[in-house]
Amino acid sequence: MDPNRVLIFDTTLRDGEQSPGASMNLAEKLQVAHALDELCVDIIEAGFPIASPGDFESVREIARQVQRPIICGLARCNAGDIDRVAEALRGHPHGRIHVFLATSAIHREFKLRMAKEEIIRRAVDGVKRAKDHGFEVEFSPEDAARTELDFLAEVVERTIEVGATTVNIPDTVGYAVPSQYANAISHLKKHVSNIEKAIISVHCHNDLGMAVANTLAALEQGARQVECTINGLGERAGNCALEEIVMALRTRQDYFALDTAIQTKKLYTTSRLVSHVTGIVVQRNKAIVGQNAFAHEAGIHQDGMLKERSTYEIMNPEDVGVPKTELVLGKHSGRHALKQRILDLSYHLTEAQLEKVYDGFKVLADRKKTIYNADIEALCENQIHLTELQAEAQSNTWTLEAVACNAGSATIPSAVVCLWHQDGSVVRDCSIGDGPIDAVFQAIERITGVNVVLQDYRLRSVTIGEDAQGEAHVEVEHEGRTLTGRAVSTDVIEASAMAFLQVINRVLRTKGLGRILPTETLEN
Ligand code: KIV
Ligand code: ZN
Repeated sequence: MDPNRVLIFDTTLRDGEQSPGASMNLAEKLQVAHALDELCVDIIEAGFPIASPGDFESVREIARQVQRPIICGLARCNAGDIDRVAEALRGHPHGRIHVFLATSAIHREFKLRMAKEEIIRRAVDGVKRAKDHGFEVEFSPEDAARTELDFLAEVVERTIEVGATTVNIPDTVGYAVPSQYANAISHLKKHVSNIEKAIISVHCHNDLGMAVANTLAALEQGARQVECTINGLGERAGNCALEEIVMALRTRQDYFALDTAIQTKKLYTTSRLVSHVTGIVVQRNKAIVGQNAFAHEAGIHQDGMLKERSTYEIMNPEDVGVPKTELVLGKHSGRHALKQRILDLSYHLTEAQLEKVYDGFKVLADRKKTIYNADIEALCENQIHLTELQAEAQSNTWTLEAVACNAGSATIPSAVVCLWHQDGSVVRDCSIGDGPIDAVFQAIERITGVNVVLQDYRLRSVTIGEDAQGEAHVEVEHEGRTLTGRAVSTDVIEASAMAFLQVINRVLRTKGLGRILPTETLEN
């Protein structure tokens, strides 16, 4: 391999999905996987197959549909986990099993209760078992950044000996600082006799805001694989952000002299796609992909920019795919223009889905003068969601028939909700609440008999303009699990009710329950 080439290992679908509230369904994960493929990441970590049947299914489906990059599945160091990854990856031309086991004193003593010898024995056995499946193997000593360097070197050497071709050095809790982390990598380079047989990978969490800095420091010492996520999603404060590390290497090629294969012009749309499907909004001032990343407010800066762009801009927005001016579509735009725009926005729809989006586009174009990218994104999202919801539809699914509410400064907020049950019955109920949305949610809870704790509720305008569509995002907690729902409508009350109902349906589905305690059956 070219010694200056850095492999990009994207873990948005695994570590990223571990962000609270970032869970994605199968259709959404497939969209992201296809977008990562187009972005030209080298490795996609598609999930943790043993974690749930849904995780297994998504790794299997991604491995089936996405053939160019290496597809990787995560496993703890035990036979069950490893065999499950192998099963999910079966048939992929270049699958990878990623086996991990904690090595730091704190994890050995309190979590695993294992001595160093046992850690080594298990790590070696795990790598061997993964290797026996015929896939390439990556080994991660979890919490490596807090592991004694000599022990870390020993674990790394022993796992390479039995076939690990990538050794990942995670800063699991985001504790490292750049010089210390760099020192750990150079220690491994010096003290692991077979280190040249493996690629050193780095996986930095961002708890102290140093994930990208630590990653760069490790690359300077010879690490050549970076584990990262779109928008920096990930456990707690997240992981090293893909767009940041890639653009740091590209913009400072003069300094690092390292390259990736990333098609940087796709960074912006991929970031938006991930933000949409997870419901996690990108902060305005986020580096590279935030709304303000290329906005110049101060007069002095604007003046400088007009005279010479490089005075205040170190990257071209076009290089990361930020549209200079958005070409709007309208009711006279044809199928072909719409299809092309959908592809440009990194969505991968079936012909049937495209047809449905086109129908939705025509309806929307009658109601709105101009259709922006965000409108098209919302239509695509809705369609992906609908496809998934149709797949989800089981005996316990409720559908919104109608919602009405009454609110104002001199009245008690109230709502009437009418729901269809999949058995054909229609149920109506009403409730008062602290506000109209609260009243709608309470009425839905009364009808379905499901009570959840609302953690977050957000409403945003999909585009600019008075006729813009509203997107409602609901996050709830139910029996220790976080579930999210999202819906778009020109009526924000309706969007909110649909998003909340999605969550309720998911709760019912996970319980395998149908309708509970309907209060009033109108039809049967
Ligand atoms: O942060 C971590 O240590 C991980 C490992 C599973 C690689 O995510
Ligand atoms: Zn991690």
